[in-house]
Amino acid sequence: MATDKGFEQPIHFDSERRDFLGITTTVVGAVGVCGAAVPFISSMNPSKDVKAKATSLVDIASIPLGKTHIVEWQGKPVFIMHRTPETIAAMQASQPDLDPQSDKDRVQKAEWLVVVGLCTHLGCVPNQTKDGWICPCHGSLYDNSGRVTRGPAPTNLEVPYYEFVDDHTIIIGKVV
Ligand code: FES
Repeated sequence: MATDKGFEQPIHFDSERRDFLGITTTVVGAVGVCGAAVPFISSMNPSKDVKAKATSLVDIASIPLGKTHIVEWQGKPVFIMHRTPETIAAMQASQPDLDPQSDKDRVQKAEWLVVVGLCTHLGCVPNQTKDGWICPCHGSLYDNSGRVTRGPAPTNLEVPYYEFVDDHTIIIGKVV
């Protein structure tokens, strides 16, 4: 017949053993989860190709005065307009009231306008006119600063993030 002591000892031993096994299993499981998660999470980071597509390097030296080139950035058209002194003066002297913004707040260098070429109404690509752009879908107008002068577009053409690498080159988009 077992004594009280005889029962207590195995019960006490089993309890400690279970605790040890429980802790060990938890630690091994946590290490395993972390080990699996690190490559999984790093696989979610953008690849070099994706990072490269996030930016567009553009040689603007080849854009004649008064002309606009369209480049692609992140699948969107971007209008880069080499503005004449007359156009700059006209844009600086006006401020449409649909989405009020001064021309100086929309350009880094007055002779270069850089805007995303998608109408802010429903995303059609506006056509250039001598006074700016007209949207072929519902007739919105934009001036030579990309500011909306007639709706239904609610806002000005978007100015993307860009930087001048030097006097002849811009990079559109943020380098990540
Ligand atoms: Fe340009 Fe509607 S999409 S006016």
